[in-house]
Amino acid sequence: MTEVEAVRTGIGILMAGHETSLSMISNVSFLLLAQRDLYEQLLADRNLLDPAIEEMLRIIPLRSTGSFPRRASEDVEIGGVLIRKGETVIFQRAAGDRDERVFEDPETIRFDRERNPHLGFGHGIHYCLGAALARAELKAAIGGLLDRFPGLRLAGSVDDVPWKPGLIARAPESLPVTW
Ligand code: HEM
Repeated sequence: MTEVEAVRTGIGILMAGHETSLSMISNVSFLLLAQRDLYEQLLADRNLLDPAIEEMLRIIPLRSTGSFPRRASEDVEIGGVLIRKGETVIFQRAAGDRDERVFEDPETIRFDRERNPHLGFGHGIHYCLGAALARAELKAAIGGLLDRFPGLRLAGSVDDVPWKPGLIARAPESLPVTW
């Protein structure tokens, strides 16, 4: 690796790893408080934290737009559609995460799914480099909230929460809470 490549890789990992985790911690906190019975389920049974984080990664799309573009390096057929070499494709990962052929009752948030092969960290060659770190960060952050603020709730209504689009991920701009 040249020095330029090393620096660019470092910048890439910093950018890919900061806003994503930051946003997902906010998004998961928001959803658990917006549907507070979910927060209560975790207060009642902390063993649900791991499956809850997986379910949140499934149900909350990191981006509000489509994926980063892909360009086909050879002709390939996907789902009966021929994508020719050189063509660009933008896909919607969130659609896969709500596919009823894979997830029973996909619109429902459930912490008791036996299988949860979500695409929250992508799939294949570009699978998220920081998935293990991100899971640990989410577990520490949400576990910390449950430990320290069992009475945590949104200070206003769900509709009062302001949203920011973000470069990589969208998330609440601020999350006013009370306890
Ligand atoms: C909850 C937090 C995170 C989520 C939801 C997330 C999600 C994703 C997704 C969906 C991809 C695949 C993108 C694609 O296929 O186009 C990806 C790739 C990537 N992620 Fe994460 N990520 C998170 C945290 C992190 C962290 C903490 C790091 C680094 C410390 C990181 C580094 C990367 C890198 C470098 C890639 C590109 C991998 C490649 O193209 O080979 N991510 N992430």
